[in-house]
Order: sequence, then C-alpha cells, then structure tokens
Amino acid sequence: MSIAITNIGSLVTNDPSLGLGILGELENASLVIENGKIAWVGNSISTPPTDSMIDAAGMGVIPGFVDSHAHMVFAGDRSREFEARMNGEKYSAGGIKSTVAKTRAASDSELEANFVSLQNEMIRSGITTFESKSGYGLSLADEARSLAIASKHTSETTFLGAHVVPEEYAGKSDKYVALVTGEMLEACAPHAKWIDVFCDVGAFDVDQSRTVLKAGIAKGLKPRIHANQLAQGGGVQLAVELDCASADHCTHLSDSDVEALAGSSTVATLLPGAEFSTRATYPDAKRLFAAGVTVALATDCNPGSSYTTSMSFCIAVAIRDMGFSPEQALWSATLGGAKALRRTDVGALSVGMSADLSFLTAPSFRHLGYRPGVDQITQVLKAGKTIYEYQDGIK
Ligand code: NIG
Ligand code: FE
Repeated sequence: MSIAITNIGSLVTNDPSLGLGILGELENASLVIENGKIAWVGNSISTPPTDSMIDAAGMGVIPGFVDSHAHMVFAGDRSREFEARMNGEKYSAGGIKSTVAKTRAASDSELEANFVSLQNEMIRSGITTFESKSGYGLSLADEARSLAIASKHTSETTFLGAHVVPEEYAGKSDKYVALVTGEMLEACAPHAKWIDVFCDVGAFDVDQSRTVLKAGIAKGLKPRIHANQLAQGGGVQLAVELDCASADHCTHLSDSDVEALAGSSTVATLLPGAEFSTRATYPDAKRLFAAGVTVALATDCNPGSSYTTSMSFCIAVAIRDMGFSPEQALWSATLGGAKALRRTDVGALSVGMSADLSFLTAPSFRHLGYRPGVDQITQVLKAGKTIYEYQDGIK
C-alpha cells in the first residue's frame, strides 16, 4: 500500500541534501509513503504513481515533533503554585513533593487516564514520539507502577526515582540514593530505557547523581540528566563525563559547560516552557549554536514547572526569547529531539525514515512562531497512519 502526499507548499525534510538550509526545505514537493516509511521525496511534478493520494493543497508539511523530555505520570495540578509564582514567589524543587503525595494516593487507572489525556494533547500538537519519566512516586511500588503505565504507551521511558528526596527520607538523602540504586532500580529497570537524575540545588549533588546514573548504566539503562536548571553546578560536566544522550534544562551554563557540550555527543535540551512558567531567565541558544552544540527543544510537560503539551508554543518562545531562528527551532523540536533520544528512525522525512509527519493550515513552518498560540496542525501521521485529523466543530 503506497500513499503519495502531493502539492506540499513547503516540505521540511531535515535532510540538507534534499532542499534548502538545515531543514532541507523543498517547495512544491511531494512524498511517497510505503509500509509506514518514506519511500520517495521530490518535486510534485515527478510524483510516481501510488495506490492513494492526499492533496496538501499548497500548505506546509513538517516531520512529527520528537518530545524528548516529559513527566506524564502524576495526579493533581499545581495551578495555585503557578498563581503564587506569577504573584512573585520563586520556583523551587520542593513543589515536586505535593505532586508526589497526590500521585501516591491515585489509582493506576487514574494515573493512566491522565497520561493518555496528555498523550492525546501531544498528538494534537503534532508530537509523534515522546519520552516520559517517572519521578512522582518516589517509593519502590509507586515508581515501578509509574513506569509500567508509561511503558504501555511509549518505548522512551525514563526512571527518575532520583527526582527529589521524599519526605520520609528527609535528612537521609544518601539512604534514599541507596534505595534508588538498589531495590528500586531492580524493580524499575524492566520498564525503563533511560536513567535520569535531577542534579541541582534542592535535589541531588554531583556525587549522588553520578552514583545514580552509574547504577542505571550498570543495569543496562542509558543516561540522561536534569542539569543546571536552578543554578550553575557540575551537572552538565557530569553529563559529558558519562556520555549522557542529553543534558536537560541548561538554564545556567558557564563557558566551560558550553565548551564541554560542544566537544561531546551530549545534546543540550532546552525547555522553554520551564523558564516561561517559572519566570526564570531564558538560556541563550545562540551561544550554544555558535559553539557547535547540538540543541533539542522539548515540552518538559509536568504539573509544576511547565504544564504544556504544545511544541508549537515551545517553538514560539524559543524563537522570541531564546535566540533560535525559526529554522533552528523547528530542527531542534524534530531532529534535535531524535538525537536527544539517540533515535535514527524519526525526526526527518528522507527515504527510509518513519513516515511521522504533520500537515499545517499554514504555508510553511515559519507560521509556527509567527502565529503564537494558534493551532495550525490539521492532520498527523505516525508510521504512515493518520492518528489525528482536525474536525471543524464551529457551527
Ligand atoms: O523538569 N526539574 C525537575 N523536574 C521538573 C519539574 C518538576 C516539578 O516541579 O514538578 C522539570 O522542570
Ligand atoms: Fe523535567
């Protein structure tokens, strides 16, 4: 079964050999999907014959967004905390504990229903691959069930037992690290691909973070890290030391952090929703790009610091406030995200890649930043199958 998508006004391939710039942008383009993969890309005039056809009507088509950082297993919300912050309170890692209490009290089916509803929001926002962490259970049973739920819906699952030290271990953080790296890891590893730690003020220090990540690696998990969100510290350097796929947040970076990232295969994942919702200073992406660092953009969807599933929103903020060009922002939200998950099958629309893509109501990807807050995704395909189609409900 082959499908042609024809009459694409602007196609982002993310393959510079196929078109203009880093996005390999092609105008008046078509692509052909066979067995869920891209089989042909080129000018609309030369589209080969196929079993069926979708007419893009001159609008834009982009690769599905790859959201490499989200926390979707939790219960409750923290809108009051957000309100207090907007009225001048400071964000701190401590707020995580209120979500932990609600998550522990929720049933599996409540947690899964919340997860699926966020996943559906992501799909409507054009996200076709997403990662989700545990980290709001912080007990062996609650972390293990969080990951069991997440792994029913994504292969990109991350064990974040070391998110913060739970109340019952207050003042005994080393004991908690021993639990996380011992029995908890044992119970969680079967459901997880990645190991993560929140290495920051009010969470875990560099030595504890190294212990957590190394234990995960010894168990066959791959490392990633929450680093330098709240202050400068050794998190980014640790990411490079352990060849983490990604160092996430990177809000406060020293010159030597930037240098270390540039000489590594660790992606810097920036999370505009977190700075936006915690009223923090945005990191400067220009500095990272100038040094040659690979940069990803992700939603960081979580109830505390960034309660959004909209990658288009993140792109708009990245362009407006973090120094991304529109091209860089789109690249970072697609192929950058794929690199942060060390995936080679998603994030681009060249031959052989998974046919994960979104149709826009706009002529090109440029409208994502240009029309902030406007939903411009009309249809989403994953492995060639339509998983979302907009239906106009206005009467
Ligand atoms: O990525 N930084 C640590 N974890 C989350 C926030 C968690 C929360 O506030 O609930 C983040 O921003
Ligand atoms: Fe996070």
